[in-house]
Amino acid sequence: MTSEIHPLLCFKGNCCQEILLCFHCSYCTFETILKQGLPNLQSFIKEHQDEIILLADKHTLEECYPLLGEELPHFIVPYGEGYKNLNSCEYIWKKLAELNATRQTILLCLGGGVLCDMGAFAGACYQRGMRVVLAPTSLLAMVDASTGGKTGVNFLGFKNYIGLFAKAEETFICPEFLDTLPYEERVNGYVEMLKHGLIADKKHYDIVKMLFLKENEKLNTSLIFDSIAIKQKHVEQDFKDEGIRKRLNFGHTIGHAIESHSLHINDENESLSHGVSVAIGMLGESYLSTKLAGLSEAENHEISLVIQRILSKVDDPIPSLDTLMPYLLKDKKNDGEGINFSLLRSIGDCKQDYTVSVDLIKESLDYIRKLK
Ligand code: GLY
Repeated sequence: MTSEIHPLLCFKGNCCQEILLCFHCSYCTFETILKQGLPNLQSFIKEHQDEIILLADKHTLEECYPLLGEELPHFIVPYGEGYKNLNSCEYIWKKLAELNATRQTILLCLGGGVLCDMGAFAGACYQRGMRVVLAPTSLLAMVDASTGGKTGVNFLGFKNYIGLFAKAEETFICPEFLDTLPYEERVNGYVEMLKHGLIADKKHYDIVKMLFLKENEKLNTSLIFDSIAIKQKHVEQDFKDEGIRKRLNFGHTIGHAIESHSLHINDENESLSHGVSVAIGMLGESYLSTKLAGLSEAENHEISLVIQRILSKVDDPIPSLDTLMPYLLKDKKNDGEGINFSLLRSIGDCKQDYTVSVDLIKESLDYIRKLK
């Protein structure tokens, strides 16, 4: 591995064959080491076998654990957003104590976004912080939960309400795991990748858009790393989410409210997924962007044509403003001055900290309803 390399090359993985983000040059300040490919994860496990406890769910234990190549002490937590809570954390802490985990033990989180966020949170609290390594298995987790150190669980029905900023020690991005999941699961990841393009890189948006529109099109894995790099650039400027990082929340103000409400009224397996909820949120927030941030009607129309595709698969009606209000009021971006949004100035250009009136939010929900 070379050491004096321009940071952009590090993001592209051109300087280091195996390490996506170079930590050995003076430019890269972010501390989580991000490695690419199953062979790297397998070598890490071989090297640290005696220090690792594996956290998985039923699916990843059956489908992904066998790919790791070694037996590890392990336990599972139930799958799904409905189990992303303090009860599950308590269970994780009990199991870790039973297995005599110490601060030096590595908690290897093998799963999707819920498992990675919650496992990293539990690990960060256990004995005030054990070592945490992430092996995200879904596309959504690879492009989002993999990086940025946001750990946490849902609380009182609000998304990720209890948590810590705590960087994982290493993250392994293994596209090999994606083949263990159905195509529908991939759509969640595409939505998050589209969002990365919309807020910061029109070219990325245009490429992901084609994947999103053509079902079962092959995903070029370098696109995953391009998407992570967009997130990374926001996180390294604003780790604590006080400024530019809030742009990563485009679509999530309405999206999280819709997701939380859906989780409240439905069974775990019937509630709207994160990807679908955020896609709906992006439709509403693109509309708000035309009213407040200068997004052109033409670009809003273009975004709606792309994302609308997802609406046809949603049976539930779009909730009313009154229904969503309790969730919108609890959005973590709010600072007491009203409901805070990140909005698009154009495709590829976003700005944070717009306070939006209740009337306009209502209008945006009506707009989504008309598209449906
Ligand atoms: N998922 C948004 C963020 O990490 O800031």
